Amino acid sequence: MIVISEFMDEEAIRSGLDGFEVLYDPSLVDRPDDLAVVIGQADALIVRNRTQVRGALLDAARNLKAVGRLGVGLDNIDVAACKARRIAVYPASGANDVSVAEYVIATAMLLLRGAYGASAEVASGAWPRNALIGREIAGKRLGLVGFGAIARETAKRAAALGMTIAAYDPYLPPSAEIWKQPWGPVEAQPLNALLAQADVVSLHVPLTDETHGLIDGNAIALMKKGALVINAARGGVVDEGAIAAALRAGHLGGAALDVFAEEPLTADHGSIFAGTPNLILTPHIAGVTAESNVRVSWVTVDNIRRHLTAA
Ligand SMILES: NC(=O)c1ccc[n+]([C@@H]2O[C@H](COP(=O)([O-])OP(=O)(O)OC[C@H]3O[C@@H](n4cnc5c(N)ncnc54)[C@H](O)[C@@H]3O)[C@@H](O)[C@H]2O)c1
Repeated sequence: MIVISEFMDEEAIRSGLDGFEVLYDPSLVDRPDDLAVVIGQADALIVRNRTQVRGALLDAARNLKAVGRLGVGLDNIDVAACKARRIAVYPASGANDVSVAEYVIATAMLLLRGAYGASAEVASGAWPRNALIGREIAGKRLGLVGFGAIARETAKRAAALGMTIAAYDPYLPPSAEIWKQPWGPVEAQPLNALLAQADVVSLHVPLTDETHGLIDGNAIALMKKGALVINAARGGVVDEGAIAAALRAGHLGGAALDVFAEEPLTADHGSIFAGTPNLILTPHIAGVTAESNVRVSWVTVDNIRRHLTAA
């Protein structure tokens, strides 16, 4: 049996998993006790980023052979424990890169321009032109923290808009071919220099011990006054309280946060953002569009079907 505990494209389930017994219940993620019962019969489990595939759930997963992840970050999966139990883990690499890259570019332009929140004022007859003089993205410097697949899709779009681009990624040697992209050069920089020079800092690293708290108050203090921070990577990489404080103090010019240390964000935790100017908060949706949902679902059903058929 294949258990699917979070939402995915239903046509991919119908056609891609035809012939398999499937339990598709996107509410299982919020009913961990029920999930722990059905997981005992599962040969494969398909999850997004909320189902915690670790500990007691893995103990109960006696027949589990494969986990399909409808996305790329694997921080909700105990990959080492899966490996020890010979459970294969399949991320849907590449399938939502474009969605995240478009989110980053769109939020950067929205935050720099600052002109799009005045519909009610304009409709009411106010004409707030002076207050809405924003900034262009052309000529600005994009600082990417992590230069993997999503960062490169973002950089390609930023280059087309006339941005200069730098990236910090200590796992890519400065001589690597990857820095010489066909659409233009990307400058490899140490983190502190990147933070000090960028107009827009966008994060594209996995959540690891090394990246946890990477963008804290000290890192933000290095940034230029008026710079933007965009986090569509993982909560925990950025200190959310420090972002809110820097926006209120007028040091940062704007921020977009799609991911949070605690998800779903509770009203209690969310109150740290009350009254914070030029801030966009979204519920971990940067990688999820109608198109990417279909791509991610098909990559995942193909991975799982191939694994179970070969087993
Ligand atoms: N918000 C969303 O909806 C959404 C969607 C997809 C992915 N993501 C997040 O985006 C992250 C990046 O995705 P990707 O597909 O580009 O991954 P990727 O593996 O292609 O790239 C990650 C890059 O980060 C670099 N890196 C690792 N540790 C680093 C460190 N300490 N400092 C600097 N660089 C470091 C790696 O060398 C790699 O090049 C994922 O791990 C995931 O957490 C979020």
